Amino acid sequence: MTIPTASTPSQPGALRRGEKWFETPDVASFIHRAFTKAMGYDDDDLKRPVIGICNTFSELNHCNHNLRALAEAVKRGVLQEGGLPLEFPTISIGEVFVSPTSMFFRNLAAMDTEEMIRGQPLDGVVLLAGCDKTTPAQLMGAASADVPAIMVTSGPMLNGRYEGQDLGACTDCRRYWTEYRAGTVTKETMSQLEDNLARSEGHCMVMGTASTMAACAEALGMMLPGGASIPAPDSRRLRFAAASGRQAVRLAREGIRPSQIMTPAAFENAIRVLHALGGSTNAVVHLPAIAGRLGIKLPLDLFDSLSRTTPWLANLRPSGRYQMEQFFEAGGVPVLMKELEGLLHGDALTVTGLTVSENLSMVEPVGNREAASQRRVREVISSREEPLDAEGGLAIVRGTLAPDGAVIKTVAASAHLQKHRGRALVFSSPEELQAAADDLDLDVTPDDILVLQNAGPVGAPGMPEIGNLPIPRKLLRQGVRDMVRISDARMSGTAFGTIILHVAPESAVGGPLAAVRTGDIIELDVEARRLDLMVEPAEIARRLAERVVAPAPFRRGYGKLFVEHVMQAPDGCDFDFLLGDPDDAISAARMGRDLRT
Ligand code: FES
Repeated sequence: MTIPTASTPSQPGALRRGEKWFETPDVASFIHRAFTKAMGYDDDDLKRPVIGICNTFSELNHCNHNLRALAEAVKRGVLQEGGLPLEFPTISIGEVFVSPTSMFFRNLAAMDTEEMIRGQPLDGVVLLAGCDKTTPAQLMGAASADVPAIMVTSGPMLNGRYEGQDLGACTDCRRYWTEYRAGTVTKETMSQLEDNLARSEGHCMVMGTASTMAACAEALGMMLPGGASIPAPDSRRLRFAAASGRQAVRLAREGIRPSQIMTPAAFENAIRVLHALGGSTNAVVHLPAIAGRLGIKLPLDLFDSLSRTTPWLANLRPSGRYQMEQFFEAGGVPVLMKELEGLLHGDALTVTGLTVSENLSMVEPVGNREAASQRRVREVISSREEPLDAEGGLAIVRGTLAPDGAVIKTVAASAHLQKHRGRALVFSSPEELQAAADDLDLDVTPDDILVLQNAGPVGAPGMPEIGNLPIPRKLLRQGVRDMVRISDARMSGTAFGTIILHVAPESAVGGPLAAVRTGDIIELDVEARRLDLMVEPAEIARRLAERVVAPAPFRRGYGKLFVEHVMQAPDGCDFDFLLGDPDDAISAARMGRDLRT
């Protein structure tokens, strides 16, 4: 694997941030030098660009468990290029372990990342992420701190294996659990699956949220080309980490900042890659949040218009057939971007120091390869001429039920349900839904539409990944495996079904979702991009006026901060006070001040 980087030798740039800490003739620098020497560093070390390694390693985050080893490889690369690597920890969010939901803590992690980059003597930083929320959180924080930065992710797990078949986390967790609930899979099989699903370190190995956000980081230009899909235990990931360490030093010397890389053009490139991958709906929340830190708006209509003009190319689960190991072998994001080249902004700058076009000029077109190689690639990454679908993987729907929009992953939905009219079956909490879902006497038919309220950013709080509402057991036993489901929640990128998510405004802040009652008729038409509650507007308004507002869930602490400041899904669920404002002279002055304490 060849990783392109700028060919021009890097030159020392303006005054390093580290120099302010170590080389000014005052007592503060004296103290900084003395205490840094306490760790065994000498004067030669202190003259080098300081490269922070922002590490989200945690033993409570299995997806990021290999980041210690990757940090050592990054350090080797930083030293090779003449920098001083200094590793520091930030919050780590393990998707399956954190309560009440990982999304509740993404902004906290982003704040931690931002302030620790800004508050320490770093000339550049390597961001080590992996599990779903750690990648966007680090990009959000790095965008706000705007110190030269490069990302290295943990990489996907190896494919799980069971009775000759590949298993994918957590697409197969859900698939087999549904069958277990339906009574078609035994407890013994579930026990064997549990032992065979997750074979190695790394993040989920289907095109779930972690894989999607890693690919988006690469498409944004914040990761060296090819890095998103290298399997976590593959030695090439260690070599990639070392190369990233070397490149971090060059970025620091050249002063190339995230704000120069993550431009509106770069975000459009990332959205096109998202659609071509059939990637996770969660990117529709995370990308606006990252962009918002730089004062860039990514309206839902932009996602939709780019979906209309971007072909779906990657045959990856949960929408397709293959997993990240095969995607890596097919060439990964660089080959996918090569296919999309005419649709991308080629002049966008990347962490290589080169533009997207310059990076892609080093990728051999699939059509130029020998026939067997072409066939292998085309199994996983289709050509633009013969895509899996002419349009991208996600669509935005609007209407009287979602005036500010909602998201559906069309490539993971049943075609026959994407135009559907049905009776609403409404639940006001996940607990209520779960109890009903196991009730074999539930009044439900396959044509009904399951609706869950109070699962949005404020209502849950934290917008948990519960949008793939469980199919009632009664229907499972009849062989039903999909039905239309609607909520203001998110959904795991590894999940699938005809599922409308992120309904905005959410029910807890008075969106029309709060007005839906069991028996109402809902119409979904994905092609027309419509989602409507077939109830008179005056009646919807009357029901909303009578709505009983739930008491605030928190009286103190981070929870109080969260519910008072979290924005709605179309704005990325960031805190309103963290948005970037290019006209904010006070913050700009703060960013430029001498930050020593
Ligand atoms: Fe971390 Fe799936 S649990 S990526």
